[in-house]
Amino acid sequence: MNFIKQHVVGFLNRYRLGNSISKDSYFNKTAQLSSLELLKSPRRTAIINYFITLLDAKYYLEIGVRDPKKNFDRILCNNKYSVDPGIEFLDNPVDFKMTSDLFFENLKRDELKIKSDIKFDVIYIDGLHISHQVDRDILNSLECLKDNGVIILHDCNPPSEFHQRESYDFMYSPARNFWNGTTWKAFYKFRHQNDLFSICFDADWGVGIISRKKHPFFNNIEAKVQNEFYEFSVLNKFRKEHLNLCSFEKWTELIEK
Ligand SMILES: C[S@@+](CC[C@H](N)C(=O)[O-])C[C@H]1O[C@@H](n2cnc3c(N)ncnc32)[C@H](O)[C@@H]1O
Repeated sequence: MNFIKQHVVGFLNRYRLGNSISKDSYFNKTAQLSSLELLKSPRRTAIINYFITLLDAKYYLEIGVRDPKKNFDRILCNNKYSVDPGIEFLDNPVDFKMTSDLFFENLKRDELKIKSDIKFDVIYIDGLHISHQVDRDILNSLECLKDNGVIILHDCNPPSEFHQRESYDFMYSPARNFWNGTTWKAFYKFRHQNDLFSICFDADWGVGIISRKKHPFFNNIEAKVQNEFYEFSVLNKFRKEHLNLCSFEKWTELIEK
């Protein structure tokens, strides 16, 4: 009897939760923001390939690969290398089955099949989406990036505070399973460095580009309002300026004129 009671109560709770979620304005607004983001173009792969062509890139590195069919296999570069510890995709057919921290450590010690003095033209960072990790990935990448190379980061423009939650696993989030993590914080931090220039393309959850070379319309931050405490509400109000957010189509039109 207790068993049946437990199931009936469980069912009623889920029903009530489902009903209140569908009436909750946060859930509805966040769902709309996710849908709008999915409609944006181009996808990250097209942007990465654009920079590969622009720089006539010979060496490409991808940190965080998951299923290579989705992006890595579509990158048009002769020498491509991939790093992933295999957390989300068990097959994990990558060159270096390890975390990015271990990869860079081994690279510095010359313990990999590639030489420690290798310089990449394009490094795409899409591993663990937590600001501290992204911060280390950017720092390490700068050490093995060609002078005119670019670092490309996925997930720099979270549409809502729920998309930028720290924990991916919170499944009752209004963002559901969409997750950009706190990557934007690392990107925003590096935008304060005056020897680096950046832009964030408003497509595919924000594709951030960091470069030592000042490409047209790349800049570093001179915002009057700073986001000292890395609050989402401040990012949301000033995202154009704080991320240097720009449409990819508009940017390519301007630079190809
Ligand atoms: C968002 S997926 C990558 C998606 C892929 N880059 C794409 O564009 O389709 C994130 C990947 O990062 C990997 N990952 C998690 N922690 C990592 C770490 N510390 N170093 C490198 N990769 C990591 C996960 O195993 C997962 O496969």
